[in-house]
Amino acid sequence: MSATRVCSQAELTPSAALRVVVDGKPIAVVIDSLGTVHALGDTCTHGDISLSEGFVEDDTLECWAHGSKFELTTGKPLTLPAYEPVPVYPVTIVDGDVFVEATPISQEA
Ligand code: FES
Repeated sequence: MSATRVCSQAELTPSAALRVVVDGKPIAVVIDSLGTVHALGDTCTHGDISLSEGFVEDDTLECWAHGSKFELTTGKPLTLPAYEPVPVYPVTIVDGDVFVEATPISQEA
């Protein structure tokens, strides 16, 4: 599957996630404190909540509903009540544009 341009890198700020939809999948695009761009499934695994409406902090994306924090690099929840990871999608940057593939990176158990 090919990558889809979702935004420019300049649109991203370290304090907020950007919700995009790629091939029908809601995805939260986040830039971390070092400037690396990440793409995670936008739906919390604890409930039907958009993670992009939550908080970006310490290289995690926090669900506003009950506070689970998902690691940007792996999608794994670092705090309960969520215990299942969100998918992580491949990101490429080309000339300042952010491209995301809708096929998740496989995750280790
Ligand atoms: S819905 Fe996200 S932690 Fe409960």
